[in-house]
Amino acid sequence: MRVVVTGANGLVGSRLVSTLVQQGHEVLACGRGPSRLSGQGFTYASLELGDRGRLVEALLPFKPAVIINPAGMTDVDGCEKQPVAAYTANVEGVASLCLVARDTQAHLLHVSTDYVFDGQAGPYDLTATPNPLGTYAQTKYAGELTVRSLLPKEQWSIARTAVVYGWPRAGNNNFGSWLVDSFRQGKAVKLFEDQLVSPSLALNVADMLAELGTKKLAGLWNVAGAEVVDRVTFGRALCARFGFDPALITPSRMKDVALLSPRPPRSGLVVTRTAEALTAKPLGLTESLDRFFHEVQGAP
Ligand SMILES: NC(=O)c1ccc[n+]([C@@H]2O[C@H](COP(=O)([O-])OP(=O)(O)OC[C@H]3O[C@@H](n4cnc5c(N)ncnc54)[C@H](OP(=O)(O)O)[C@@H]3O)[C@@H](O)[C@H]2O)c1
Repeated sequence: MRVVVTGANGLVGSRLVSTLVQQGHEVLACGRGPSRLSGQGFTYASLELGDRGRLVEALLPFKPAVIINPAGMTDVDGCEKQPVAAYTANVEGVASLCLVARDTQAHLLHVSTDYVFDGQAGPYDLTATPNPLGTYAQTKYAGELTVRSLLPKEQWSIARTAVVYGWPRAGNNNFGSWLVDSFRQGKAVKLFEDQLVSPSLALNVADMLAELGTKKLAGLWNVAGAEVVDRVTFGRALCARFGFDPALITPSRMKDVALLSPRPPRSGLVVTRTAEALTAKPLGLTESLDRFFHEVQGAP
């Protein structure tokens, strides 16, 4: 199957390209600037989500059956500082992908976030009503609405994910790689004990996205790890698996910290439907951390 993957240099996109290539799909990997991907067996196209002409020119001749869109401006505080850039990547880029999907009849799988919720009543199932806080969250929710407005419902899927981590990091640090880096250097970290999240291993997210996309399973999906925990619990579980000193973790409270962009305190995603429908299952914390440990051991 011909599959376009955007954000191919990113944490999720890079794993998704490898997964799809391993499964024998013909992949057009689209990233910003030169490729930072390792491996082979795919074609790479450099594109900027805000450049509709270039995006259409790169994607149309490929005649994709599926477009999977993990690309986006993901720096939550950065979005607050640069709202126009956030809107361009997280909304206008999505609109351009919808137009390509309409022209090619491709199925569009768009990746979104649990940050579409305000975090008053998580974990959230598929019936929950979004109330995004902050520019990142608002533009991601606007991206979801763009998909729903521009494509017929059998032609799109939206997959919300949460706190994605993996090794090697793809550019920016992620929650897991930052903890490993800090603990290796014996650095103490402060972690929120009052923020509930669904930690999600990038490899596991990529497996689930690959299946959702190539099976064209339409509708809304929660694509995340199977367990909802606070960040201190996650940090301590990581210490236990890696043999780091849990005393390096100091619990703190998000509500006592002035954040540039607000984060949902009680978040996380209910993944029951995903676990029932997919062969690639949302992993529990122990198995995710075990795989993460082996990723770190394999590429220290
Ligand atoms: N990571 C998380 O904890 C998390 C949690 C919930 C939801 N999500 C969602 O999951 C998806 C994948 O996240 P991720 O962790 O893989 O993020 P990521 O590592 O930041 O990857 C996003 C990719 O999008 C690219 N990009 C950003 N702006 C662009 C633009 N204007 N034009 C072209 N490319 C652009 C980035 O390019 P550069 O590499 O050049 O910057 C990056 O490679 C995102 O949609 C995100 O909103 C992530």
